[in-house]
Amino acid sequence: MKNYDRKRRKFLRCLLAGTAAAAFPGFGIAQDRRMLNAKPDPNFKPDVEIEFVAQLTEVPILPGASTSVFRYDGKVLKGPQTVLLKSAPGYLGPIMNLVHGQKVRIFYYNKLPEPSIMHWHGMHVPQKMDGHPMYAIEPGERYVYEFEVKNPAGTNWYHAHPHEMTASQVYRGQAGLITITDEQERKLDLPDGEYDLPLVIQDRRFTAGNQLQYIFGMHERMTGFLGDTILVNGRPDTTIPVKTRAYRIRVFNGSNSRIYKLGWEDGTPLTAIGTDGGLLEDPQTFPYIMLAPAERVELWVDFTGRKPGTDLMLRSLEYDFPQMGMGMGGMGMHGGMGGGRMGGRGGMGAGRLAQGEDFPIVRFHIAEKIGESPELPKRLVKIRNLTEKDVANPGRPVPIAASMEHMSPLLNGASFEMDEVMDIERIPLNTIQKIRITNEHGSMMGGGDGMGGMRGGMGGMRGEGHGMRGGMGGMMMLPHPIHMHGQQFRIISRKLKDGNMGSYATVREGFINSGWKDTVLVMPGEEIDVIKPFEDYTGLFLYHCHNLEHEDLGMMRNFYVS
Ligand code: C2O
Ligand code: CU
Ligand code: CU
Repeated sequence: MKNYDRKRRKFLRCLLAGTAAAAFPGFGIAQDRRMLNAKPDPNFKPDVEIEFVAQLTEVPILPGASTSVFRYDGKVLKGPQTVLLKSAPGYLGPIMNLVHGQKVRIFYYNKLPEPSIMHWHGMHVPQKMDGHPMYAIEPGERYVYEFEVKNPAGTNWYHAHPHEMTASQVYRGQAGLITITDEQERKLDLPDGEYDLPLVIQDRRFTAGNQLQYIFGMHERMTGFLGDTILVNGRPDTTIPVKTRAYRIRVFNGSNSRIYKLGWEDGTPLTAIGTDGGLLEDPQTFPYIMLAPAERVELWVDFTGRKPGTDLMLRSLEYDFPQMGMGMGGMGMHGGMGGGRMGGRGGMGAGRLAQGEDFPIVRFHIAEKIGESPELPKRLVKIRNLTEKDVANPGRPVPIAASMEHMSPLLNGASFEMDEVMDIERIPLNTIQKIRITNEHGSMMGGGDGMGGMRGGMGGMRGEGHGMRGGMGGMMMLPHPIHMHGQQFRIISRKLKDGNMGSYATVREGFINSGWKDTVLVMPGEEIDVIKPFEDYTGLFLYHCHNLEHEDLGMMRNFYVS
């Protein structure tokens, strides 16, 4: 409640000061709380009807005591039972399998002990169906979603999205995959059934009693949660038995803040056939693939020719993760910080798995030799081509500037406000916009005031015993996976404006810049231009950092489409 009041006050202040910030009558939080969508629309004729219940429950994850989690349980009320596929026993919600063009109605019941709301990440749906935090419902309440599946074939996901509680709820299990299929995809005859594998990668931390442990202190909140136990499809130490043939593997990073550098242990390149928003035009090969929180990549993995009985490990390979920007000088990432990278095992608490460290993710065991395998198609799907010529604002890209000031991660210099937008966040309906996303070193130095704030913050870090003291001339420089709700976008350029070439070299070949994206990893010093359509639906659509701790710290804003 305190928070709410603070926000209200700030909101009023903006109004009184006549700043660019504006509110929308009808989007007022208080009014909207009673405008919730609790009843189905009799004029909407659903092809499928699903029920989701979010609840506190206990599941076995590690040997021994079971773990208490927040899980989505689903039931198909209308349509084929295959609309929902139970995932491995654990906390993940069922996989929702949809078809392009389908009309979907979802009854969502919040039986968690706290407010929540569901969001369909990657999907193009109306504002009211998008799970904006202003629609969060109380325990015991119901929300009805109705939308048509407008996305092409691909892999999306759903998760909880209440303000300031997204990170902890997703961490405790509030997430599941969505697959969509369409005509174009069916013609390709990609591997399906048991040869179409989901691979949800998440890091968690457990207490001795097998309970999920979340954040320790402010520093961890600022960098984002990092767990030391890697779970695949909700299970630890995963081995997947496979046959000597091609598979379609849908890899999804469901972690709060960990960024994976996917690579095969024997150096085999990875072949991508899809990204966040669907299939690529042609398959593409990478030495490794960077996968940030919320990003998906679909891999074509061919085990043909591998010897039965052998194993192949998918790893997260080592990369440089400097989290301090310029001015570190002699402090050095490898010196005074406790003998490791920042946030490393030595530096930030023994036994933790650092961002950028090498570790195994999942083992594929070649269990059976079979004769036949499908061939990798040379061309995949046709994608609507968007270029500079299509945009309404060629010379004036909409900015999304990521920064960290006073220990608070910001977008365009501002924090999240439930129903507020700045002028630069107003987008005319049915236009295609160029957006420039930056994560700049310079912007955060911000003069003496900013430094003072940082120093205060650093005191907190000292308190955690990291051995950092004095002489901190640097600012926190973190990668930010920037996500936009609504329609997917295309990346048109990506450059390093001002950053450490040395560290960048350890990640730069792992970015997929083609295809449809809804989340893009922006490394320190990078400037990324994207083109995004804002079609069909008016209203408030979020953009935010998908490092979930950053999102909950307010690194989130609204676009207002009208
Ligand atoms: Cu994954 Cu605002 O969403
Ligand atoms: Cu989303
Ligand atoms: Cu961030």
